[in-house]
Amino acid sequence: MLLILFAAILLVGKSAEALADEQPKYAIIPFPAKLIPKEGKFIVSAKTNLVFNDGLANEGTFLKSILQNYFPKVIFQTNAKSKTHTIELLLDPSIEATEGYELYVDSKKITIKGKTSTGIFYGLQTLAQLLPVKSKDANTNLKQVSVPAVEIIDSPRYAYRGMHLDVGRHFFPIDFIKKYIDLIAMHRMNTFHWHLTEDQGWRIEIKKYPRLTEIGSKRKETMLAKNFDPYKGDGIPVEGFYTQEQVKDIVAYATTKHVTIIPEIELPGHSLAALAAYPELGNGTGPYEVGTKWGVFDQIYAPKEETFKFLEDVLTEVIALFPGKYIHIGGDEAPKTEWKKSELAQSIIQKEGLKDEHGLQSYFIQRIEKFLNSKGREIIGWDEILEGGLAPNATVMSWRGIQGGIEAAKQHHTVIMTPGEYCYFDHYQSKDVDKEPLAIGGFTSVEKVYSYEPTPAELSPEQSKFILGAQGNVWTEYMKTSDYVEYMVLPRMSALSEVLWSPKENRNWDDFKNRLQVLTKRFDSAGLKYAKHAVEAE
Ligand code: ACM
Repeated sequence: MLLILFAAILLVGKSAEALADEQPKYAIIPFPAKLIPKEGKFIVSAKTNLVFNDGLANEGTFLKSILQNYFPKVIFQTNAKSKTHTIELLLDPSIEATEGYELYVDSKKITIKGKTSTGIFYGLQTLAQLLPVKSKDANTNLKQVSVPAVEIIDSPRYAYRGMHLDVGRHFFPIDFIKKYIDLIAMHRMNTFHWHLTEDQGWRIEIKKYPRLTEIGSKRKETMLAKNFDPYKGDGIPVEGFYTQEQVKDIVAYATTKHVTIIPEIELPGHSLAALAAYPELGNGTGPYEVGTKWGVFDQIYAPKEETFKFLEDVLTEVIALFPGKYIHIGGDEAPKTEWKKSELAQSIIQKEGLKDEHGLQSYFIQRIEKFLNSKGREIIGWDEILEGGLAPNATVMSWRGIQGGIEAAKQHHTVIMTPGEYCYFDHYQSKDVDKEPLAIGGFTSVEKVYSYEPTPAELSPEQSKFILGAQGNVWTEYMKTSDYVEYMVLPRMSALSEVLWSPKENRNWDDFKNRLQVLTKRFDSAGLKYAKHAVEAE
């Protein structure tokens, strides 16, 4: 009999309980600001009561979904009177930080307090990482799992904790966009920068300008690998866009995950797909074709009234879909070749008393900013918007290194840091590039990302306040599938999340690496793709 039992144990593998004893107790990423280990544990079972009030229905649902991962058949009691076996979610105005939370676990009770539902949501994300890793094929009839006793008092270091995704170069389905939002939320990051328009594809329905998607969302093929010259295409058409209904659904989904979406509508460059649809908005250099190879193209919008009317109409529809305060307007990599030759562009430089074509770009962006400000929104632009003079209220996204961010902060403009060296997740993760999927180049290891310090040392404490945070950028020229995107972001975004959340003095690479071993088991359990070699001990 004993032998049969023993064999049965071997067959079902380790229990979740056994796994919990093996894994480091507090393998949380990003690691909380303050964590006090305690003796003992809380047992979660079918007897556990969930207590939360009406204002926290969304978080209550999230709590249930976390537990259902272990107990798929149990319907948990809610709002029970019991004072034991309880997990309670509680709004607490005395907590200072908007996104802050406190999490208390003892043998009788788990309590998560937050100033806001966002704080409570983050407390739940932390709780999810205190539960044992459940292997994909684990027994679904678990009787109980345990949570180690602990006291956590936590809030983020930076207010802006973002991930970007380029859906212009390659289109990704709605289910993946939601999964990406889940990953952002899981890492207690709060912003999804959705890069929706590109030379190679316009991906958002604009009702007033149907050709943007009829023509601009389709390209006849994609450059094969890196066959720039001589050009070689793959002959396979690429298309796709999000309808406004789908966008609304994604925005609503992101809201439940406490993620704000910042849409990006590129201007005046990276606009070839829009020009293919509406060639009259160009500098008379058409006809245009949706891009099939990568790079920076000379064809940009003409700075004429028809273009401003078009962009204001487009942005009006975009504003109606996205409730967040920021609209990203691009501004990067807009060659001035066409404006130099264009009579119209030159006449505006003259008429407006602008210094040169950079002054004209600044004029262009300031007009868009004025429009968006009049609608109660603020602009973010890539650091090229510094050239020719910053728009008065603009936030700068520093990508060509950190200098743009430093300059903007010194001018008292808010800044989001995304320097290529640390924050471009389209770079290779390993030096062994032959073993990696094709990437744009570069080398940005997980350790490199972890070493990033978003606040430049040369800024004064006063200037440092303008650094809102940082973001990982994911340009998808060479990422044709969502699995590929997952592989490129995981676990680099895990490293970035800790850079952005945890106090600087608490950061410790060796400790992070240990905790990452547990997190990647969770990735395995969820069937996520990630760069395994990037986390293996060196
Ligand atoms: C960028 O990478 N062109 C912002």
